[in-house]
Amino acid sequence: MGEEGFIKTIRSGVTPEGKKLDQKFMPWQNIAQQDDEALKAIYTYLMAQPKLETPKDLAKAKSEK
Ligand code: HEM
Repeated sequence: MGEEGFIKTIRSGVTPEGKKLDQKFMPWQNIAQQDDEALKAIYTYLMAQPKLETPKDLAKAKSEK
């Protein structure tokens, strides 16, 4: 989705796939109050984190051994 999609999702509460975020679980109305500079910094930070191994990744690695 990229930085633009990230900011759009946080501001609108709707993901690029069209899923409405449930404010009960995903606090987008609070995060939406941050200015663009802060949201860009959050996006840059999140994208700089190492990828997590999901159960699917682990199963794939095991089957390739
Ligand atoms: C600064 C960025 C974000 C923060 C701090 C944040 C925080 C959270 C938190 C605290 C929850 C609740 C988790 C739980 O109780 O188990 C949540 C849920 C969720 N978040 Fe985020 N989130 C962020 C960005 C996003 C983005 C960009 C998307 C989608 C493109 C997203 C999609 C979701 C979804 C789908 C849920 C599950 C609740 C639901 O279905 O509405 N979040 N998020």
